Amino acid sequence: MGRQRLPKRANAPLSRLKCCHYVIISFVTCFAGFSAFSVSYYASSTYLRETLSHFFSAGPLEIEYAASLRDLFEFYKSKNFPGKVNSINIDYYLKYNDFDYRIPQSVTYTSAIYNDNIEILFRLPQKTAISAILIIFHSCRHTAHDWFYTYERQRIIGAAIDLGYACLVFQATNNSTRCWSNKADIHENKDVKMVFKGLDGFYKEYPNLALLPIFTFGSSSGGLFSSIFVTNQRYRIHGQALFISIIHPEILYTRVKANKYPSTVWIRVCRT
Ligand SMILES: *[C@@H]1O[C@H](CO)[C@@H](O)[C@H](O)[C@H]1NC(C)=O
Ligand SMILES: *[C@@H]1O[C@H](CO)[C@@H](O)[C@H](O)[C@H]1NC(C)=O
Repeated sequence: MGRQRLPKRANAPLSRLKCCHYVIISFVTCFAGFSAFSVSYYASSTYLRETLSHFFSAGPLEIEYAASLRDLFEFYKSKNFPGKVNSINIDYYLKYNDFDYRIPQSVTYTSAIYNDNIEILFRLPQKTAISAILIIFHSCRHTAHDWFYTYERQRIIGAAIDLGYACLVFQATNNSTRCWSNKADIHENKDVKMVFKGLDGFYKEYPNLALLPIFTFGSSSGGLFSSIFVTNQRYRIHGQALFISIIHPEILYTRVKANKYPSTVWIRVCRT
């Protein structure tokens, strides 16, 4: 018994060492195998993706590549979808008294800078008596400038001018988002302050227009802003048109339900 135990004891560290070796070797082998597999899988899948995206460059694979939400937005942005093309074809025969949008040089406007660098782009009716002011608030990521350079917006300006509205287009203060402030408290809302200052300057230059009723048109973020702006006491707003927008919920509960709110028209996009 004693003899049998002795060799076992003498061999024990050796076998432990062997065992350790096996564990280390198998671990290293597994690790190397896994790494090799990962590298080749990654390389081949990248290659596969690139090859596929080469063949389907306008396909949904581009979405996977979208680096940011902004890219995604660009991808989904409607371009010349059939409905838009149809509507442009129909509108092509519409005529406005004041300008012909098919002749871009006829769609002129004034750009004026008022207090504190506030720019207003405006066009006063030239062939119709001026009966009202229409203040226009653009949508996010757009500019005041777009209102005189894109077909859809030119249509709105053309129709409004024919009805006798002097169109004043403002630019949101936030230069990066180009969205309007959605603070419901107008004393806290810096875009409200900016529009006030701009209007102060405008009416100083055109005092004869100061008695005309004011209406607003807001598109999307500009619509939400309009729903706030119309509650101001300084420049009374007679009515507003909200294009793909809502009334700010806080305003809805405090002003609309209390029946202290100007007439509002909604223009929304429907699925057909
Ligand atoms: C513009 O808006 C973004 C998002 O609301 C905000 O983070 C940023 O501070 C704003 N910039 C200015 C100049 O107000
Ligand atoms: C936004 O840009 C305009 C023109 O580039 C500049 O006059 C104005 O000060 C800028 N506003 C802000 C808040 O940075």
